[in-house]
Amino acid sequence: MTILNLLIKPSKNLNGSITIPADKSITHRAIILAALQNKTILIKNWLQSLDCLRTLYAIESMGIKAEQVNANDIVIYGNGLNGLQAPSILLDLGNSGTALRLLTGVLCAQKFSTKLTGDSSLTKRPMGRVIQPLQLMGADIAAHQENFAPLIINPVTKLKSINYTLKIASAQVKSAILLADLYAQRRSQINEIVATRNHTELMLDYLYNNSHHDKSITIPGDLSAAAFFIVAATITPGADLCMPNIGINPTRSACIEILKMMGADITISTIALHNNEPSAEIRVKHAKLHGITIPVELVPNAIDEFPILAIAAACATGTTLFRGAKELRFKESDRLAAIAAGLRTCGIIVQEFVDGLQINGGVLSGGTIDSFGDHRIAMAFAVAGLVAQQPIMVQNTQNIATSFPDFVAVAQSAGFDIRAI
Ligand code: S3P
Repeated sequence: MTILNLLIKPSKNLNGSITIPADKSITHRAIILAALQNKTILIKNWLQSLDCLRTLYAIESMGIKAEQVNANDIVIYGNGLNGLQAPSILLDLGNSGTALRLLTGVLCAQKFSTKLTGDSSLTKRPMGRVIQPLQLMGADIAAHQENFAPLIINPVTKLKSINYTLKIASAQVKSAILLADLYAQRRSQINEIVATRNHTELMLDYLYNNSHHDKSITIPGDLSAAAFFIVAATITPGADLCMPNIGINPTRSACIEILKMMGADITISTIALHNNEPSAEIRVKHAKLHGITIPVELVPNAIDEFPILAIAAACATGTTLFRGAKELRFKESDRLAAIAAGLRTCGIIVQEFVDGLQINGGVLSGGTIDSFGDHRIAMAFAVAGLVAQQPIMVQNTQNIATSFPDFVAVAQSAGFDIRAI
């Protein structure tokens, strides 16, 4: 893949309404669960990003037909719980942890073997967390050092349900168990110490427990993508940005609560509900932020937003502290290290802990930032470029396309002075 760098210069006019792409987490689940239905499912407004395309390609490689019916909608011809066929290829899930972990839950219940892998980031991320509970259900999964892709999954005669307490707050682990449990009479009980995003439960409930005849799935805009623009508008003087149709599932929306605690001016209106998922219009105006200690119980529900929350913290007066976020070390990059390095390049004082950061708000100087090939680190520092004294160049940003292929165009439409170089 061609290396892409982004150059962002201070910008002033962040105004108007922008379209945020569809939710990544919900799109993965919609594709996988649609493939397992006994009927055709229309998925409206799906996210056509590299990560979701990997999930779609994996499903198509197992004999499921899919048809793009117009610019934003796709039809998946579900073939029932036992309708997948052995793929003739290695399933390469690219950069996507969600794709790899959720599909492992489905594939350990099939009557054929599969081999799953990913890119240089994904093959370094821990998979033992999904393998262990699935093995308790009876699955046969082999992994490099029992923890890393490639995974080799072999068929077993039967899976059994389990009563399992999640050792780490992970919706991907929970979802892998729930998907495997479709093949074990849906009797497993999963106990969470902290509630993680519940998109899988809501979609299972929608598809299996209600009697609606229209089984189309409508995907709201991605709050994790919107968060970059929520912070962009908050830190840019004079900004007033509107984002219609953003998912505001309460198990995902802690970033809004955190930013409001810091003083952000965020208004939520026009709430709608589609396939159990709430969505709303989010309007953000510039506001002065102050540092806070982020309550530890909010961390899992804002886990993907810490790169951009760190930029908000750097622009706030005073100190922001968050702990209990060790999971950030196991994302597409070690996000605690990546955020600390990037902020220090911009002249911000940061103290790094094993499970968090303390960020002293200040003035961002600008400079050249390594995104470590991580989409959210890249987009977070692009936002920092709005208010830095000098331009910010973010390197190695091509993986933005894993979650937000049109980021540069949307940022330009919002008023960013941003271009690829
Ligand atoms: C996701 C869950 C989270 C999140 C990831 C998407 C999901 O990961 O970081 O971007 O779609 O279930 P964990 O559940 O591993 O924390």
